[in-house]
Amino acid sequence: MSYENIRFEVEGAVATLTFDRPKALNALNPDTLREVLRCLRDARRQSVLRAIVLTGAGDKAFVAGADIAAMSTMSVLEAREMARLGQRVTTAIEDLPMPVIAAVNGFALGGGLEMVMACDLVIASERARFGQPEINLGIIPGFGGTQRLARRVGAPRAREMIYGGEMIDAETAYRWGLVNRVVKPGDLLGEARRLAATLAAKPAVALAQAKHAIQRGLDVDLENGLRLEAEAFAVTFSTDDRREGMEAFLGKRPARFTGR
Ligand code: CAA
Repeated sequence: MSYENIRFEVEGAVATLTFDRPKALNALNPDTLREVLRCLRDARRQSVLRAIVLTGAGDKAFVAGADIAAMSTMSVLEAREMARLGQRVTTAIEDLPMPVIAAVNGFALGGGLEMVMACDLVIASERARFGQPEINLGIIPGFGGTQRLARRVGAPRAREMIYGGEMIDAETAYRWGLVNRVVKPGDLLGEARRLAATLAAKPAVALAQAKHAIQRGLDVDLENGLRLEAEAFAVTFSTDDRREGMEAFLGKRPARFTGR
């Protein structure tokens, strides 16, 4: 499948999706968002794919936000459509059965940070900068930022970022729990792909069920979350990998998982 504003490369069980409009610091216009949706729909169907890395082209930006030039002429109704489209993308990332790792190489601002927060794990270059600067344009986050940022870092810090519109550096993002690891710029993609390959070798159904239980569990009370976990736990008992994992342990040999 060919794209104009993104690249999608597959190597073994790991794919890399790159936002690729470096002249606009990879800003997200509606065409780019539609391409990402199409790409993710296709990725879901590729059963060999077990992990995805999300990154930005060039050394300056992951994604500098929604495209301000495109938004500058939008009507109220078009703005709502744009928000819905961006939200469909972030939800599609969260709903993928395989883990998605954000490799944040530079600015992750506005819609860019909102893409990052839809990912399962985040690795940042020391040069990465994070922010929700929409307030400085007279608008607010529209691709999930008001909801996911508060869930990730807590309401007080989310308010500080969204009301103030200031950027934070990678170290602060790490301390606040937005980022799992901070690495040297030159190590970023290698580290993200290594982690992706490690996760790709895990039993795929168990990983998908863990992802589902954590993700959905964040939005329900503990009692319902525990029910959800029991159902997800039960699903893993229908797999060959569960049998293999337990037999290998009891037979004192390494497990050979097939993803079934
Ligand atoms: N949309 C469109 N174009 C953008 C862009 C964006 N979000 N961010 C950067 N660009 C473009 C610039 O216009 C510039 O284009 P030209 O070379 O044609 O002039 C090019 O990318 C390089 O940018 P700068 O010259 O500004 O680079 P810089 O190093 O001086 O600054 C920056 C980098 C601090 C990231 C700055 O570009 C910036 O502040 N960008 C906007 C960030 C922003 O406000 N993001 C939020 C957007 S709103 C949003 O995302 C809403 C939502 O939740 C859905």
